[in-house]
Amino acid sequence: MSRFDFVKLQKQLEIESLAAGSAPEVEELRVKYLGRKGIVAEASKSIRGITDAAERRDFGKAFGKFKAFATRLIEDKFKEFERQQSHADFDFTLPGREVFSGGLHPLTIVENEVVDVFRRMGFTVETGPEVESTYNNFDALNTPPWHPARDLTDTFYLEMSGQERMKWLLRTETSPVQIRVMQRQKPPIRIIAPGRVYRNDKPDATHSPIFMQVEGLYVDKGVTFADLKGTVLAFYREMFGSDVKTRFRPHFFPFTEPSAEIDMTCIFCSGKGCRICKKTGWLEMGGSGMVDPNVFEGVGIDPEVYTGWAFGLGIERIAMLKYGITDIRMFYENDLRFLRQFS
Ligand code: DAH
Repeated sequence: MSRFDFVKLQKQLEIESLAAGSAPEVEELRVKYLGRKGIVAEASKSIRGITDAAERRDFGKAFGKFKAFATRLIEDKFKEFERQQSHADFDFTLPGREVFSGGLHPLTIVENEVVDVFRRMGFTVETGPEVESTYNNFDALNTPPWHPARDLTDTFYLEMSGQERMKWLLRTETSPVQIRVMQRQKPPIRIIAPGRVYRNDKPDATHSPIFMQVEGLYVDKGVTFADLKGTVLAFYREMFGSDVKTRFRPHFFPFTEPSAEIDMTCIFCSGKGCRICKKTGWLEMGGSGMVDPNVFEGVGIDPEVYTGWAFGLGIERIAMLKYGITDIRMFYENDLRFLRQFS
């Protein structure tokens, strides 16, 4: 038997390494085990003296394992002290580096607030894709083929040739989420769907080709227009204070009957008439109405049993009023001087 018991040596090295508390002490260990006249070198030399082939093979194996172990352990141990050393070198008198914390985009802030208010009223949040089918965006919403909103000048279609042409688009409203929800869920339904929408509009102070809406949908037995008015009023009072009023102006939307546009009293002049509300005392906030029976039929909900209402409100409008922003394009220009004011 050789005089090298690698099991014992490994134990011994482990203990000694634990006791090594500084880089020079680790260096001592290195010399002792891995140095030119160290234990590993000695053991390596002794292999030649083993005559029995089997014994030599066993020894070689154990030797290899031990050598690898020792090399690794001592290396790690050195690294440990290097790390500590680099901390010791740290100059605590250096001036701090400024950390910029990100902030939420004003539209995200307002979206979160809108969602909060409707959640408290019992609505759940649904979402849909921004790339929609023409079917969900127009057909299922009872929009006739000749409707001007379908026009290329109003809608961004995804360029595809042949049969796929005009089959897909960037949704022009959040209303297709109504269709998605009603296709998979039976009443009672009470949801809102906030999100981005797209229209082929020339940008100016009040138009942006990308903007946000929040859709609302309530379907059940015996749902009335009065519920709609009450819900929308409660929402705007939560957002802008308890003295705002709303007004529902008759209008037309293909997917509702009757339909109405929603106005809110101007928060700048309290309805007296000013520059912002163009002397009318009212601000246009969105569209609404009772879900058209044709829409119900398309998604398999019986209009003889259920009624429902829906609305689509502009998010930018709310944000602009809330923060006194006079140009919608500011939301989409990513100017940090603008954005930093909200963080
Ligand atoms: N989708 C309409 C628009 O973008 C807004 C709207 C009107 C949504 C009436 C509705 C609704 O849900 O009932 O102009």
